[in-house]
Amino acid sequence: MQENFTLKNGKTVLIRDIVSDDYEAMQIYLQKLATETIFTNQYVGRKPRSKESFDKQCENPYSWSVGIFDGDRILGACQCFIYHPEHLWCGYTAQFGIHMLEEVQSSGLGMHLMTLMERWCLAQGMERIEASVRTQNRKAISLYLKCGYEIEGLSKRKALINGVWHDEYRIAKLLNNVKG
Ligand SMILES: CC(C)(COP(=O)(O)OP(=O)(O)OC[C@H]1O[C@@H](n2cnc3c(N)ncnc32)[C@H](O)[C@@H]1OP(=O)(O)O)[C@@H](O)C(=O)NCCC(=O)NCCS
Repeated sequence: MQENFTLKNGKTVLIRDIVSDDYEAMQIYLQKLATETIFTNQYVGRKPRSKESFDKQCENPYSWSVGIFDGDRILGACQCFIYHPEHLWCGYTAQFGIHMLEEVQSSGLGMHLMTLMERWCLAQGMERIEASVRTQNRKAISLYLKCGYEIEGLSKRKALINGVWHDEYRIAKLLNNVKG
């Protein structure tokens, strides 16, 4: 997929699939993201994933990986994958992650990427989309609730960040896509 998106400040960014050639740009992006937020799992000094693993994800038909681009620069990403794609009983759940740099936040991109991601999940025959979100992440929680997600539970002490324990909500949306 490939499309333009205009931010509130008038700047246009490109939303497109992340491909193997984006590996270096992705590492630079993740390092910057790590300096801006504690609400993802990126931290300063985290070992980058291997090129092999990155390529595998790009080629995985059960995974959807879309980036926000300004030229060659990555400004954000939304990734979703199907847990057990060929499992007769459990193959109806997808899990996602979404993040972007401060410079493009609060411009409607989050909402738009969530819509695109849900469309992909529906086309894949998914029934359930789920994720975790740190309980202090008001912006993301607000986005997910607006997109129809529900808080299903609380996972205590999921992350120890700078000496402080953080809890996470488990959130999910049922798509009513598959006949039971
Ligand atoms: C959380 C995140 C994905 C939201 O994306 P976004 O593009 O900033 O959000 P949007 O502009 O699409 O706004 C969607 C909703 O989020 C909420 N939101 C956006 N900006 C907000 C702000 N500054 N304060 C509070 N809520 C805010 C609002 O409910 C908003 O709906 P509205 O525009 O109808 O009021 C993005 O801010 C981000 O990447 N944050 C850092 C990383 C992160 O927290 N990732 C999620 C990990 S679970």
